[in-house]
Amino acid sequence: MNIAIITGASSGMGREFAVQLDRCLGKTDEIWLLARSREPLEKLSYSMQTKARVIVIDLTDEAAFKQFEEVLAIQNPKITVLVNCAGTGSHKFFARQSKEEIDAMIQLNITALTRMTMLCLPYMKSGSKLIQVSSGAAFVPQSAFAVYAASKAYVYSLSRALGQELRGRGITVTAVCPGPVNTPFLTHAYEDMSGFGALKRLTMAKTACVVKKAIEDCKIGKSVSTCGLPIKLLYLSTQSVQNVMITCFRV
Ligand SMILES: NC(=O)c1ccc[n+]([C@@H]2O[C@H](COP(=O)([O-])OP(=O)(O)OC[C@H]3O[C@@H](n4cnc5c(N)ncnc54)[C@H](OP(=O)(O)O)[C@@H]3O)[C@@H](O)[C@H]2O)c1
Repeated sequence: MNIAIITGASSGMGREFAVQLDRCLGKTDEIWLLARSREPLEKLSYSMQTKARVIVIDLTDEAAFKQFEEVLAIQNPKITVLVNCAGTGSHKFFARQSKEEIDAMIQLNITALTRMTMLCLPYMKSGSKLIQVSSGAAFVPQSAFAVYAASKAYVYSLSRALGQELRGRGITVTAVCPGPVNTPFLTHAYEDMSGFGALKRLTMAKTACVVKKAIEDCKIGKSVSTCGLPIKLLYLSTQSVQNVMITCFRV
């Protein structure tokens, strides 16, 4: 059985990945939709052409992860696409953040994404695609977004290195690095939107555009997906040396 797995599919970009992949994935038997909220996942699953399986899971819960691992072992699917999209952010000075807020970002953005990648890789074969949703915040440290930006720098770095490691297996890895996108993420991250600066408002991208570009880039095996001129310029100005170095360190 060929499947695609999307985490964070109940909302924002994860939901949009499900909608767009549903239209363009060939030879896929099922799309597995993962998040904590059952209702939006079910609603989405009813609207899809491809058979969708709703998996209600808290990716920061060790026991739930273990159950998911067992489901995979029993079904033994071929994972053609894995989209690690679930993520959370909290925009505040580090000293003002609670332990819970910091733990939530590290556990979901770093630990769960790493765990999910480890779990799914044995089921991915030549031609499989791994899409890791990072952020433009990965490119530069950001005050008041310190832990979030650092967590996304982790996702970016992991994805680029994995992309090199998996070349021989024919699996591509694409780090998706958007600037601000109009999803519920922003209202969760910002206590009040006064902290959301004019530049961010001006450069805000549409969910559908970011996801469309990410899918196009993943299809051609691009290692980094950026959408829109401002984020492309940020990427080129901050990562050009790294792009040279990564090929020098290729094993
Ligand atoms: N929006 C932006 O400006 C922006 C910019 C750059 C990168 N990103 C990244 O894009 C990704 C998607 O975010 P979004 O903007 O689409 O935000 P969103 O609409 O808030 O989506 C976040 C998704 O993560 C899921 N999620 C949260 N906690 C979870 C948990 N413990 N276990 C399982 N699923 C969980 C949520 O579902 P439930 O609540 O139902 O679990 C939801 O489906 C994130 O990784 C984010 O960091 C966002």
